[in-house]
Amino acid sequence: MEQPLLERMTSAPFEVQDLESGCSIEERITRRIDEFMAGLPSPERLSADQRRGIIARYTAVLEGNFIYWMTGAYLSVGSEQSRSIILDNLREEVGDCHPGMLRRFAVAARAVPTDSDAMAVSQDLMNVRLFVGRLSGVRLVLMMAFFEGLIQRFMPFLAELAERQGSREREYTDVHGVCDVAHTRELFRALAAEMALDPAASEGDLLEGVELLNTLLQAIVHSDATRYSADAASRLTAR
Ligand SMILES: [Fe+2]
Repeated sequence: MEQPLLERMTSAPFEVQDLESGCSIEERITRRIDEFMAGLPSPERLSADQRRGIIARYTAVLEGNFIYWMTGAYLSVGSEQSRSIILDNLREEVGDCHPGMLRRFAVAARAVPTDSDAMAVSQDLMNVRLFVGRLSGVRLVLMMAFFEGLIQRFMPFLAELAERQGSREREYTDVHGVCDVAHTRELFRALAAEMALDPAASEGDLLEGVELLNTLLQAIVHSDATRYSADAASRLTAR
């Protein structure tokens, strides 16, 4: 007898297929993460101010928004399995006070966000907030799975920036380099449960939230460079 759809999808979460592209959603997410990692600048080639800016913009975004995004995911899902996975994630985030860990990390690296750090990412952050507010379960869980998958690979880069700023504070980067591996896996299980529950929501552009979050993360890392190249481009066209 054929295994029920929900059971098949939740026991093999990484096999969830994107009907549009034909490849697994996890493959598409992994490719996005690979591209992001390949585009990171070398820490040794950054100035102290550029290193400070990346840590400060990362802190400006993550300190006050991760719990909000994950709460949005909780409100948007329909299956008990997803609710329980997301609650576990939130319990750890709040119980271990991850925003406090991130604040200590930024303070130790002398990279507490300023007004201009917050302004540099504000439009891209607003776009993500508006997307989260739509409470679209499948797309939002996928966005969070992308985030957790990317962050655990991003942590060594962030830790190196802080170290080059003279910081020895490693709790935030150590914790997120490890626990987010399990979080990513669990969120893909939640995704499978949501797709099985609401097949209609699994059609169309599933990576909508992923793309918006990717743009925001690019702004965190490349804000200075992007501004520089936009200025350079406008100077060239003005000639
Ligand atoms: Fe966290």
